[in-house]
Amino acid sequence: MLVLGIESSCDDLSMALVKDGRLLANVTASQTLDHAPFGGVVPEIASRRHLDHLEATLDLLLEKAGVKLAELEGIAATYAPGLVGSLLVGLNFAKALAYALEIPFRGVHHIEGHLWSAYLEHRPEFPILGLAVSGGHSHLYRIQDFGEYRLLGHTVDDAAGEALDKVAKMMGLGFPGGPLIEKLASAGDPSAFSFALPNVKGYPLHTSFSGMKTAAHDYYRKMNPGRNADLAASFQAAVVRALVSMVERALAKVNASQLAVAGGVACNMPLREAMQELSARHHLALAIPAPRFCTDNGAMIAFTGEKYLEKGLASPLSLNAQARTVLGAT
Ligand code: KG4
Ligand code: ZN
Repeated sequence: MLVLGIESSCDDLSMALVKDGRLLANVTASQTLDHAPFGGVVPEIASRRHLDHLEATLDLLLEKAGVKLAELEGIAATYAPGLVGSLLVGLNFAKALAYALEIPFRGVHHIEGHLWSAYLEHRPEFPILGLAVSGGHSHLYRIQDFGEYRLLGHTVDDAAGEALDKVAKMMGLGFPGGPLIEKLASAGDPSAFSFALPNVKGYPLHTSFSGMKTAAHDYYRKMNPGRNADLAASFQAAVVRALVSMVERALAKVNASQLAVAGGVACNMPLREAMQELSARHHLALAIPAPRFCTDNGAMIAFTGEKYLEKGLASPLSLNAQARTVLGAT
């Protein structure tokens, strides 16, 4: 089935074409430069830029894949969670196009898309322990089968990416902070500053990043400015340790055949290496997307949407955008 996927939940508009589980093309209109001067994503700018980029992004995608609009057999778009104005642009475009072409439409949860991005290049081995780590999420799932998600644990405050972004901003590095921290950290000593492992009392599978963010702030205020690389390396290592610990605590409670790690923070090389080491130690298969499919992309939405549409599970055109909906929350 030839499916168009549209992702517009935050600051990047990304579209992709998937046919029978195979990616044909993915095109992303990035807004990084539009938001960089503000040190974060400005929602009003994001939705307006999405509107500006819709038609050209679709035209370029169709041209790259050598596909005609009339050949599409289904359309998927992110409906939740995210910036509501941004979501509405991609979602309404997708619904209108599906209506005009008389083909089925499927709304996809952004985090479900991230989790399945790991399977653009890997085969799923159920049950899967799926970790989604992005600017808004640090959520751990047990995936029994496609569509069956049990939320095991999550951050109780900042997401991992959000904490990295905030610490980078504090250090004057720029936005988005994750890749900038990673770059600076490569010249630093990860054991220079100590950070306590988060412990959420009464919730053994949850985690937290606000304590280590505050500790980074305190170190930064008191330290010699020449130690920026050491602080970046130590903070990054602490974030990685917290995520590894979260997965290990879950593995002590639930069985899994495979570990999937996805979302923008999964671009991070020390995190990828730590997850490789962890899965080897626990004899788990590991699925991590290529870095370009870790950050927001249309491919994950097209891929997930196609899985639903192939089962005949379309969404009604009345489906609305939802800013906050937790995947797997019961
Ligand atoms: O999945 P994503 O593109 O958007 C959301 O759904 O939030 O993730 C964005 C997050 C940002 O917080 C960004 O700083 C982080 O992913 N990120 C990284 C790296 N690349 C992006 N964090 C650590 N290391 C990286 N290389
Ligand atoms: Zn995302």
